[in-house]
Amino acid sequence: MRGELQTKEIHDLLKALTTKEITLREMETEARRIKEMRDVKRVFMGETGCTTWEEASERFSDWVSEETLQRFQGQARTSTMKDFIVRALEWESTKTTPTQGAALELRNDIEFKQLSGEVVRARVINDDAMKCISNTFLNKMSDYNGASVVFMDIPKDMDADRLSGILRIIRASNCRKSVGGFHVILFGTQESLAVGQSSARQELYTVESAYYAYTDVQTQEQSKLSSVVYHFLVAHSTDHGWKVNSTNLFQVAKPKATVEETTGTHYSREKPVLLYNNLIKLFAKPKTWVMDVFSGCGSAACASVGTGFNCMIIEKSKNKTRLIRRRLNQLQCSQS
Ligand SMILES: C[S@@+](CC[C@H](N)C(=O)[O-])C[C@H]1O[C@@H](n2cnc3c(N)ncnc32)[C@H](O)[C@@H]1O
Repeated sequence: MRGELQTKEIHDLLKALTTKEITLREMETEARRIKEMRDVKRVFMGETGCTTWEEASERFSDWVSEETLQRFQGQARTSTMKDFIVRALEWESTKTTPTQGAALELRNDIEFKQLSGEVVRARVINDDAMKCISNTFLNKMSDYNGASVVFMDIPKDMDADRLSGILRIIRASNCRKSVGGFHVILFGTQESLAVGQSSARQELYTVESAYYAYTDVQTQEQSKLSSVVYHFLVAHSTDHGWKVNSTNLFQVAKPKATVEETTGTHYSREKPVLLYNNLIKLFAKPKTWVMDVFSGCGSAACASVGTGFNCMIIEKSKNKTRLIRRRLNQLQCSQS
């Protein structure tokens, strides 16, 4: 019986049993009910991106009463429950309005015409990801279909709570857009990857290690393996995702560093477009978007539009955003 029951719950049940208010059978039924309702609430919170049940009750007041939820008892992971959560998220998106800033950002799309005639867009947002990624912002973008691949090159000053918050919001929005399983690719330093790993695990993602290396490094460098093989993480939201196997080493040609025109600086943490290409081809699902939360000089954006996926690109530095737009404009010119 114990399972996930809290001490107070066990105490109350035993007290009711000893005072003969309930029979042993009724106590067992009640214990099962409590555990199943807890599971229903946990799934509801996970899929809607709520941190606490208080938040869920506040955001979805009409949806989360005990009477409403008890019909999902023992069925927390079924499609009926999923449909219910999607309806709740849709209802929520009709009662909120986007911030003015978010609405303005929508005008910043850079569009690419594909050979098929289809248009692929890069939505470049110059803002702090912590402020702009919100349920309201993502829900209100009618053309955004959710992200099946999310890149996060984790900044050094990021903490696990803030990162968990973003992961939660992205999951809720993906649930609403019916994306199903999706992948989050985490880059960073050893320290920031540790933060990424703990947030992803906390948010119930399965986390695998992966590596990339350059095919054209000097032989003497190759002997120093640790300096030429770079570690990153692949987190996925379902058990059906990609697992580490013999293909977890990605080998790509070393890119020419992108240089910022006015200052002449290049970014030491720039990742190769070819690596992003490989990951997008492996994980992105048709009609969904690619998201890059801490974009730097925009390699993920170049790879997304190059592989035919709409992307949402968030970068807080004005200079780097300018650089991302310049790179995308150059790509646009080379296509026409
Ligand atoms: C390591 S770099 C990303 C490099 C990128 N992967 C590339 O290939 O160019 C991290 C970037 O995140 C940006 N950044 C840091 N904190 C941010 C935040 N809260 N919101 C948005 N961008 C942020 C920084 O300005 C920096 O450009």
